[in-house]
Amino acid sequence: MKIKKRLFISNIITVLITLIITIVATCGFFFFSARLDIRRMNTKNIEEVVDKSKSLSEISNYLIDSERKIKTNVEIEKYLRYSLADMNGKYILYKSQNDIIQSEGINRIDVERIVDESKGTIDINGENYMSKISGFQNEDGSNGKLILMVPVSKETFESKHFFIFITIAFVFAFIIANFITTYNFVRRIMQPINHLKAATSDIRDGNLDSQIIEAGDEEIRELCNGFEIMRIRLKDSVTLKSKYDENRRLIVSSISHDLKTPITSIKGYVEGILDGVANTEEKVFDYLKIINMKADYMNVIIDDLLLHSKLDLNQIPYNFEKTDIVNYFEDCICECEGELKKYNIDMNLDNQLVTTRMVKIDREKLRRVIINIIDNARKYMDKEYGQINIDLRETNTSIIIEIRDNGMGIDEEEVNKIFNRFYRIDKSRNQTKGSGLGLAIAKQIVEDHKGRIWAKSHGGEGTSILMSLPKGKVLNNDVEDTL
Ligand SMILES: Nc1ncnc2c1ncn2[C@@H]1O[C@H](COP(=O)(O)OP(=O)(O)OP(=O)(O)O)[C@@H](O)[C@H]1O
Ligand SMILES: [Mg+2]
Repeated sequence: MKIKKRLFISNIITVLITLIITIVATCGFFFFSARLDIRRMNTKNIEEVVDKSKSLSEISNYLIDSERKIKTNVEIEKYLRYSLADMNGKYILYKSQNDIIQSEGINRIDVERIVDESKGTIDINGENYMSKISGFQNEDGSNGKLILMVPVSKETFESKHFFIFITIAFVFAFIIANFITTYNFVRRIMQPINHLKAATSDIRDGNLDSQIIEAGDEEIRELCNGFEIMRIRLKDSVTLKSKYDENRRLIVSSISHDLKTPITSIKGYVEGILDGVANTEEKVFDYLKIINMKADYMNVIIDDLLLHSKLDLNQIPYNFEKTDIVNYFEDCICECEGELKKYNIDMNLDNQLVTTRMVKIDREKLRRVIINIIDNARKYMDKEYGQINIDLRETNTSIIIEIRDNGMGIDEEEVNKIFNRFYRIDKSRNQTKGSGLGLAIAKQIVEDHKGRIWAKSHGGEGTSILMSLPKGKVLNNDVEDTL
């Protein structure tokens, strides 16, 4: 609900509750005041009323006997005029519709009204009368009424009290209504704002993990949502910044670590030439060849480092293409076979794919992954006849690629660490060249394909590097977008 609407409804509810309570109180007041009419009179009034009531009863008892028989009209009129005179009283003798006698000053309309009324007090021409109504039986058996009335002082404080009562009832009703609507307002608006306030002060203090939950009215929910998006973006940018910092730190540390060795050795050979240690042309040439080789190696490391940090920061775009994975691997094997032959290593492809051969890959980047895995198999080969087997199989959702070699293998406890940046197993560190970034780069590339890469150790018998790539649904030998 919108705040504007809620405020509007709250105001209407306040007015309604106030009105209802005031109306109920007024009705109650009138109801009880009618019943307790006499009680609202002061002591003087009460004495007066008691006296007059007594006199009226006596008059009535005189005129109507115990058998409810009434005296004759003439007797009655005479007696009433005499006995009511000093009290300024009035009377109505109602025998039947056509036989009514009344005092002067009471008209026909008043007669009908008074005969119908059964109240203790009667208003005639603005004057308050106390009445005594007595029933009797006519000679023909029908019922009649003798109504005797004497004026009593009107309650002046009645209306004053009524206004005080109504004012109190109104104020009371207004307070209740206000309390109800304010409570509801606070619950619906202030509570979420307080939560938001707490969350923003958390963010101000650097805690970007405290989630802002949407609650309350529409505008407040939108405000919470806006803050939550802001929090997530801020968190992302802080994470990215720390990633940049970590990257920079890594580059600096690896440059000082991995590049220091070749630079020291280049410097040694250059000094050898300058100092004349390389005293023949042949030696100078050999030194320069080594310097060139070391420089190439440094170049590779720097390229790897740059590629790794760019991939890490998502700075390199991917060019995904639908590719027949079997053909793709056949081409890779073709490319490497010649070079591997020189090292007595054979390659073999086993395709067990049934439902699909199509995947969406960035061919260039995945080629880099495969070349690194095959190059590792070559570098870490300790058998006379090397063997690299590539198996292609599938699960319901993925294509699994296993590249297995029969090289020196990896210890079980190190098998999960080889995908870490700059991680090189000690024996390979000493024997072969490499930055230790090859598999870290491979992991990033495979994960950017929404795939997974992992290794399996076969002890001293070799190593398997496995990759899973998501399958696309095959439609007319085509593949649906999955990336
Ligand atoms: N097939 C394998 N057999 C045995 N050890 C392996 C194999 N593949 C990787 N390793 C171990 O994992 C480490 C990390 O491999 P990775 O490819 O990341 O780095 P590298 O080959 O040392 O350097 P780079 O690939 O950057 O030239 C290697 O140093 C090696 O110790
Ligand atoms: Mg490698």
